[in-house]
Amino acid sequence: MKVHDVRYEHDLYSDAAIGDPYPHYAALRELGPAVWLTAHRCFAVARYADAREVLTDDVTFASGEGVGLNPVVNRLSRGTTLNSDGDEHAARRRLLAHRLTPRALRSMADDVASQAEAVVAAAVATGEVDGVRDLAQALPLSIVPDLVGWPESGRQHLLRWAGATFDALGPLNARSARATPAALGMMRFSRKVVRERSTLPGSMGSDVLAAADRGELDRSACPALMIDYLAPSLDTTISAISSALVLLARHPQQWDLLRADPSLVPNAVNEVVRLESPLRAFSRVATTSTKVGGQPVPAGSRVLVLYASANRDEREWDRPTELDVTRDASRQLGFGYGTHGCAGQGLARLETQSLLTALLRRVERLELTGDPVPAMNNIIKGWSSVPLRLVPDERRTDA
Ligand code: HEM
Repeated sequence: MKVHDVRYEHDLYSDAAIGDPYPHYAALRELGPAVWLTAHRCFAVARYADAREVLTDDVTFASGEGVGLNPVVNRLSRGTTLNSDGDEHAARRRLLAHRLTPRALRSMADDVASQAEAVVAAAVATGEVDGVRDLAQALPLSIVPDLVGWPESGRQHLLRWAGATFDALGPLNARSARATPAALGMMRFSRKVVRERSTLPGSMGSDVLAAADRGELDRSACPALMIDYLAPSLDTTISAISSALVLLARHPQQWDLLRADPSLVPNAVNEVVRLESPLRAFSRVATTSTKVGGQPVPAGSRVLVLYASANRDEREWDRPTELDVTRDASRQLGFGYGTHGCAGQGLARLETQSLLTALLRRVERLELTGDPVPAMNNIIKGWSSVPLRLVPDERRTDA
């Protein structure tokens, strides 16, 4: 059998597939461990064990040639944490890791919780809300921009820029072509921030500039590093919170389980990220001839790791399509795995857990008042709107 014999013809980035990718993932898992995608000229890895194997071996499966499917953007984003290997990657992660240690996160927890309380109190007072605009966006739009020290003057464009940065990492389709000017706009603004040294004092961005001043970093690397943590922090976390709202509104018995035992919230966040993985897939390039799940993959091949499919693999999970906030979902791959595993996952968890905890304290029931509208993005599985009624818990006097 030739290496490209197991193939799949569908475009995984068409509007229909973005709206509902799961039937495609099931078909890919059925076909084998590494399936040639004719539309995208890469191998799809859709099963849990194989995805984890690829993510674990970052020497054979490199990120340095980009993790998107778009050769232009892969070239442009060289040198970011996401798109680097080995020592270079380790140095980039070390530069900012101290900002996100468990200790650093603990020191932010009270502030995040009180922001979540304020957002939820305002939404409950309104009653009928858009879960994306009125609940999910608030924390992601303030916490990481403050941490990175992104100047206030560039914040009104952040959602558009960050969404475009993800879109541009898709294949060369109409969506990525449309997104490229906005993604470049974010980079242009970042260059200006570096030039004018306008990062907020004491922030991650200021750490980057200081490292360049000390000669530990080439100044030309600064603009990309400035957006390194910001761009991946917004749509991902907004998606996780929005999907939690959709799933918990559709499964009120699961909401009741959380109300009865809020200590299940951290696990519920894992379960939501498993079932509706915000980041569908990123790719690697095989540095040598190798095998995935026993199937040959030639050197130089691009390999697309489908986190969102691995997290529904029936070989790994019982009742994979069901929401169960009590299952142990901690091994889900929605935050990636291995050396490139999400550097911001502690913060993403903190934001999502804080918002859910604040809702659980005030809301008896979440009710969808219309159909949630899927967001169209090449990389992120999210929602552009989630019409929601928040039924207050009458036992609370301040709800
Ligand atoms: C629910 C929210 C989030 C999800 C689902 C998510 C998902 C992911 C995934 C799957 C990867 C791995 C990429 C790969 O395998 O190549 C990743 C990497 C990364 N994420 Fe997140 N992310 C989230 C939130 C955040 C936040 C809040 C930040 C910033 C504070 C962040 C910063 C990063 C960075 C810097 C990387 C690159 C790590 C590396 O290459 O070493 N993410 N994320």
